[in-house]
Amino acid sequence: MNKPAIPTQRLPELLRRMPKAELHIHIEGSLEPELIFEMARRNGVAIPYASVEELRRAYAFTNLQSFLDIYYAGASVLITERDFFDMAWAYLEKARGDNVVRAEIFFDPQTHTARGVEMETVINGLHRACEKAQTDLGVSASLILCFLRHLSEEEAFETLEQALPWRDKFIGVGLDSSEVGHPPEKFARVFARCRELGLHLVAHAGEEGPPAYVWTALDLLKVERVDHGVQSSKDPQLMRRLAQDRIPLTVCPLSNLKLCVFPKLQDHNLRQLLDAGLMATVNSDDPAYFGGYVNDNFLQTFEATGLSAQQAWQLANNSFEASFIPAQEKRKYREKLDEVFAEFGA
Ligand code: HPA
Ligand code: ZN
Repeated sequence: MNKPAIPTQRLPELLRRMPKAELHIHIEGSLEPELIFEMARRNGVAIPYASVEELRRAYAFTNLQSFLDIYYAGASVLITERDFFDMAWAYLEKARGDNVVRAEIFFDPQTHTARGVEMETVINGLHRACEKAQTDLGVSASLILCFLRHLSEEEAFETLEQALPWRDKFIGVGLDSSEVGHPPEKFARVFARCRELGLHLVAHAGEEGPPAYVWTALDLLKVERVDHGVQSSKDPQLMRRLAQDRIPLTVCPLSNLKLCVFPKLQDHNLRQLLDAGLMATVNSDDPAYFGGYVNDNFLQTFEATGLSAQQAWQLANNSFEASFIPAQEKRKYREKLDEVFAEFGA
């Protein structure tokens, strides 16, 4: 669909204003240093940093693992249902400010249950924030439970069992944490079980790991979306498969920059993915750690790579197409998107 010509100087405002879905956000990665310190204080949890500034200075990562070490340490301050609610609510308010109208939010229960926090505490706190977002902010939000891939498949099965009493409070499962050395096939049986349960399936693949991991996420786990997937551009046959089957990729440009997946934002392959006809989307991953929420990702990536208003429309529309909402809601959001574009073209 051709959009009216939009002057380049209005592109940043358009990127901010356009309605969008965020499909790759780890809620524990939205925990800002200020909130970490507040929760540490109220819960009596010791953290090895003297100040918010000192903690922020530690956010200098060289790869995924160097980030994960500090991300799991940050999550150790989350103890009560209120903590999980407050964290998710802070994210949802920011999302509203970025004109996110739909959020599909990852959470890592094993990071918390391993410390003695009950599954119920985690899910109820997060879910209550999602419900309040709908009523108070007009933001539709759902939860996706992620298994930690550096742990065993048996532990993933135990986590699933612990979560099933709250089956109505999450819509799907994902796979995150250290990728290299933990291929998707390690979790084939637990994903098959989740599929039988009618859960949506996604997995991180091709963030640092090879295209082979994207293939097995698709063919063995049968995922509906691939999280990151940027390494797919190294495999032309995989690129054709992703385009033909309209498999969405939830791309996170600032994450890729901060974890040194690409040396500079100018080198990011988002344009290449779009040009190849892939259903790419833009997301924030862990916004408190990577220097920006979803609009920062859009603005900085468009600035660095020179993407157009047409591609902005495509990315926003892809975010709705790729989301796990009914077709009629996708249509409603696309109409809202077209209204904003018409306003800017006028
Ligand atoms: N990759 C893998 N695991 C994660 C990430 C990520 O980008 N963020 C939080 N957990
Ligand atoms: Zn991620």
